[in-house]
Amino acid sequence: MQRTQEMTSVQPDWEKFYPRPISEKIPFFSKDGRVYDCLFAQQLNRDLLTLLFRTADRLREVTQHKDGADYVSGLLSDKRAMLYFAQPSTRTFMSFLNAAHILGVKTSEIRDSSTSSEVKGETPEDTVRTFSSYVDMIIMRHPTPGFVEKTAWLMNRTGRPVPIISGGSGKDQHPTQALLDVYTLYRSFNGDIDNKHIVMVGDLKRGRTVRSLSYLMKNYNKMSLSFVSPKEFKMEADILDFLKRHNIPYQETEDFKGVLKTADAIYMTRIQDEHDKAGESKKVDYSPFYFRQENLKDIKKTCVILHPLPRRHEIEVSVDDDPRAVFWRQERNGMWARAALMAYIFGVDGKIR
Ligand code: NCD
Repeated sequence: MQRTQEMTSVQPDWEKFYPRPISEKIPFFSKDGRVYDCLFAQQLNRDLLTLLFRTADRLREVTQHKDGADYVSGLLSDKRAMLYFAQPSTRTFMSFLNAAHILGVKTSEIRDSSTSSEVKGETPEDTVRTFSSYVDMIIMRHPTPGFVEKTAWLMNRTGRPVPIISGGSGKDQHPTQALLDVYTLYRSFNGDIDNKHIVMVGDLKRGRTVRSLSYLMKNYNKMSLSFVSPKEFKMEADILDFLKRHNIPYQETEDFKGVLKTADAIYMTRIQDEHDKAGESKKVDYSPFYFRQENLKDIKKTCVILHPLPRRHEIEVSVDDDPRAVFWRQERNGMWARAALMAYIFGVDGKIR
């Protein structure tokens, strides 16, 4: 009874809140001028990105020695985090888990909602509210667009809010992936991300990583983008509108080979067939969007090849040996970038830099 009343009283507010432009919603997910819940790439401005990159760089340096690692693992030893991953994950889960451990944060996890009381009929909203009774942060991946945001919204209205970090939300956003992607560019280009041509390749319609990464491009000067995809999986109009509003030039093309020569970074992605409604992915020939060994001769010496992973066939395995293939480093960068973000959210980043 209690719950029904509460749900009906908050639900209309959420229905009003959710469609508002993200720029208007950001203050609700901030505290004392800092990002509190990390839900959208649009929350990450250039200054914050630079701060996080410096923190991440410093973390990897300091933890090379036991003294430094012990110091860092004491910084948040009074905190506990919950990892709630209601969608498959290897890297994001592992990197958050290990990022937490670097900082001394204790962790608990649910990776399969069939093992939680949701099967007893508890609403997912009540389930995540329950987590907050035990922990100081929730890191969350969920298949339903807006659900991670709704959790943060609900939590901020309770007497014991805890920060929420999105580890991937439906098809819409994956902000910490974009953070580590740009951190990888930062490290690959010696800190100079401006004035670059970024080529994003693959299923751009249903991939959340390319969406979040596109938002981050507004933080850098003179960026240009090429979106290379089969015509069935072109980038969605909301992202293209965003780029237009921010005067970021882009082109859409199916000519992969044609854009390789001028690329400073090539961001490969897999086909996202888990979102198929009726096996539509099978009808699309994805092979023109593969990066093969023979393409290496066509790209600049300084060009870097990224991939959020997991990979299927879109990058030939022999490409991994080329120094310009940075996706394995990118994966590891994720752990440091996420540790930097957690340190920032808990306000101890200044003790690391
Ligand atoms: C990505 C995701 O989950 O969106 N994976 C990841 O987090 N590294 C990309 C993908 O699954 O294709």
